[in-house]
Amino acid sequence: MNIALFGPPGAGKGTQAKELSKQYSIPHISTGDILRANVRDGTELGLKAKQYMDKGELVPDEVLIGLIRNRLSESDCDTGYLLDGYPRTIPQADALTDILKEISKPLDAVINIEVSDDALVKRLSGRRSCTCGESYHVMFNPPEKEGICNACGAELYQRDDDKEDVIRQRLAVYNEKTKPLIDYYDKAGILVNIDGTGAVDAVFADICKIMDQFK
Ligand code: AP5
Ligand code: ZN
Repeated sequence: MNIALFGPPGAGKGTQAKELSKQYSIPHISTGDILRANVRDGTELGLKAKQYMDKGELVPDEVLIGLIRNRLSESDCDTGYLLDGYPRTIPQADALTDILKEISKPLDAVINIEVSDDALVKRLSGRRSCTCGESYHVMFNPPEKEGICNACGAELYQRDDDKEDVIRQRLAVYNEKTKPLIDYYDKAGILVNIDGTGAVDAVFADICKIMDQFK
C-alpha cells in the first residue's frame, strides 16, 4: 500500500509512522529524518539543509524532489511505502505525481492528521528526541528514565527547531505553503481526514482502519 501521512508539525506523523511501518511491513520514509541524518553526518546536503531547518523554513524544493525520487526508487518500496513530511509544497506534490507515475506506484491515500495549534505547540515544545529515531514527550510519553532513550540508552536531546520561536515559524510556514495541499489531494479524491487529538493508540487504531482498506 502506498500512503502519505500528512499534517502540521507535531501532529504525530513520526510517532504513528514508526508503528505503522512495523504493522504493515512497509518502509517509513521521513524526509525530516533523512535530512537530520545528513546534518549529523556533515554531508553537503546536510550543511545546506541545516540553514533552513534551524530557522523553521522549508529546504528548497529541488533538493527534496531529488532526494525523494532516489528513495522511492529503492527496492524496499516495491511492496509499498509510507511517506512522512513529503510533499510539503504544490511543486513537491506535482513532482511526486510524476515520479509515482514513472515508477507505477501511485498513492492510495493521503491521511491528514488534524490537531489544534495550541496542542501542536505543547507537543513540540515537550518533545525529546533520540538519534536512533525514537521520540518522547516530557508529559505525554515520558521515557522510563528521565532524559534517556528506552530503546538504545542514549541521552535524549531537544531538536533545535523545537524551541518556541522556531515552532511558531514552522506553523506559519505550514499554513502558507503546506496546508493548500489538503485541497489539492481532496480534489484528487484521495484525502482522508482523521482526528489526531486523542491518545497515540486511539489515533493509531483510526489510521489502521483506513490503511486496512488498501491491504
Ligand atoms: P520534520 O522532521 O518533517 O518536522 P515536522 O513536519 O515539523 O514534523 P515533526 O517531526 O515536528 O512532527 P510529527 O508530526 O512527526 O510529530 P511527532 O510524532 O514527532 O521536518 C523538519 C524540517 O526539515 C522542516 O522544518 C524543514 O526544514 C525540513 N523538511 C523536512 N521535509 C521537508 C520537505 N518535504 N520540504 C522541505 N523541507 C523539509 O510528535 C510530536 C510530539 O508529540 C512528540 O513528543 C510525541 O511524543 C507527541 N505526540 C505524538 N502523538 C501524540 C498524541 N496522540 N498525544 C499526545 N502527544 C503526542
Ligand atoms: Zn534511542
